[in-house]
Amino acid sequence: MYRTRTCGDLRLADEGLVVTLAGWVQKTRKMGGMTFVDIRDRYGITQLVFNQEVDPALCEQANKLGREFVIQATGTVRERSSKNPHLPTGDIEIIVSKLNILNTAVTPPFTIEDETDGGDDLRMKYRYLDLRRSCVRKNLELRHKMAFEVRSYLDKQGFLEVETPVLIKSTPEGARDFVVPSRMNPGQFYALPQSPQTFKQLLMVSGFDRYFQIVKCFRDEDLRADRQPEFTQIDCEMSFVEQEDVIQTFEGMAKHLFKTIRGIEMKEPFLRMTWQDAMKYYGSDKPDLRFGMKFVELMDIMQGYGFSVFDNAKYIGGICAEGAASYTRKQLDALTEFVKRPQIGAKGMVYARVEADGNVKSSVDKFYTQEVLQKIKEAFGAKPGDLILILSGDDAMKTRKQLSELRLEVAEQLGLRDKNKFACLWVVDFPLFEWSEEDQRFYAMHHPFTSPKPEDIPLLDTDPGAVRANAYDMVINGVEVGGGSIRIHDSQLQDKMFKLLGFTEERAQEQFGFLMNAFKYGAPPHGGLAYGLDRWVSLFAGLDSIRDCIAFPKNNSGRDVMIDAPSVIDDEQLKELYLKVDVKA
Ligand code: AMO
Repeated sequence: MYRTRTCGDLRLADEGLVVTLAGWVQKTRKMGGMTFVDIRDRYGITQLVFNQEVDPALCEQANKLGREFVIQATGTVRERSSKNPHLPTGDIEIIVSKLNILNTAVTPPFTIEDETDGGDDLRMKYRYLDLRRSCVRKNLELRHKMAFEVRSYLDKQGFLEVETPVLIKSTPEGARDFVVPSRMNPGQFYALPQSPQTFKQLLMVSGFDRYFQIVKCFRDEDLRADRQPEFTQIDCEMSFVEQEDVIQTFEGMAKHLFKTIRGIEMKEPFLRMTWQDAMKYYGSDKPDLRFGMKFVELMDIMQGYGFSVFDNAKYIGGICAEGAASYTRKQLDALTEFVKRPQIGAKGMVYARVEADGNVKSSVDKFYTQEVLQKIKEAFGAKPGDLILILSGDDAMKTRKQLSELRLEVAEQLGLRDKNKFACLWVVDFPLFEWSEEDQRFYAMHHPFTSPKPEDIPLLDTDPGAVRANAYDMVINGVEVGGGSIRIHDSQLQDKMFKLLGFTEERAQEQFGFLMNAFKYGAPPHGGLAYGLDRWVSLFAGLDSIRDCIAFPKNNSGRDVMIDAPSVIDDEQLKELYLKVDVKA
């Protein structure tokens, strides 16, 4: 046996016990005739003590230990004279009688401590060392616990975990697929699943009325803080359900996670907001509701006073930042620069401060009388000390999105995005289709199997852009943590959907024939949802990027710098796969 206890669990009550610990050398300190070694394992850190006078040979051995050596130490637990309040084991130390070096280690490229000197790239390259740091390890422990609670909740609700294939068929909708060449089928490719969507629907046809799977999904899309090319979904599907049943089941799961993981009891039903309202009042289909700053439209109040930027606009709207009238000119200029960045694309920003006497001072005072400015103040319900920020543009949706970015930025600056506060809501009634100006065609907003709201079905023939979907997203703190829909289970309606999406009958058959044919054999009404596990874990751990809760993540260019993937393959392998590479430098 290598150890009798761990480096994290010894306490004062263990005083006098003889124990054996095994782990890594965190650090060594020599003080006079004493040598102190911190030994670390997954569970914590314990101080080992060596005394030159008592056992010079043993102490000499300890003096030779390097950082990250793997050691085994046997000794007696003793109360520490100078306690360390920062460590759970800080009341005790081990007077070592036997030391065994299990392995030496070269000096690590960065310090293995929460506050490390290693930059991002270096830590990614040596991710196995990064994972030794307790702040990183804790995220994986949390991930394990959450996955466990998910399984426990769903099992109690009668869900069955079923695995679905990873080598599947490429489909044109959604993000880009990662593809895998088939040696046995020359010139043909599998795709890695962007989600198990079609398989879970087939399982419904098979009669598995409550399915789930904690499953890897793959999407070849541009990466962001909350996106990885391979990520994990808690994927679910249910038969004989309506939207309300799915929402209740998964709101229940969200509440279960809040309670078991964060100790937060959420008694009230989650807020529901239509997509239309989310866009109108927050300029986003994933509004962060930890704070207010709801949009107020100002077309009626501000047009017609000779300020041509506003007079020619199709949308004028703003937000009111409570207590921010003290923003300096420099801060306001910086905010203007922020909204003018190419990624955001606003032309400029107008501001108005409500002064202590209630008067409003704005950056466009020469166009507006105090009377009009007071109307603006009233529209926001603004008080002395508040700051009103206004954007305008010739496309309402675009301008709202810009205002949404501004809202988030101001909230960040005012410290309103508190990671320990949670604002959950369902966004419902998404449009079924999204029109692409570029391609001059409709795309499915969720996926082509999403059912329209029954009352909107007639609109499919007359005004497809106005059809709402039986689809729902769960949003927490401005993050889309999950989404799903009630599916089409009627093959005629599905045919119509494919037509509207520009599929010919042959192409629909070629791409989705397996599903459409299956539906002919008695498909139950069904619907489901998928949560993003990485996003849930990041939210509960208060992380800025989902990367930090994935054991071996990819960097922003989609690379695993530790194993150096992706990489070229040799000619022999290419030949075997009937592939030729044609990369122009
Ligand atoms: P959707 O595409 O909305 O729906 O994905 C469901 C959830 O998965 C998470 N997610 C991601 N997480 C990390 N990195 C990514 N690249 C990424 N992409 C998505 C999000 C998202 O809400 N099959 C449907 C679900 C259904 O209709 O049942 C689907 O995949 O949290």
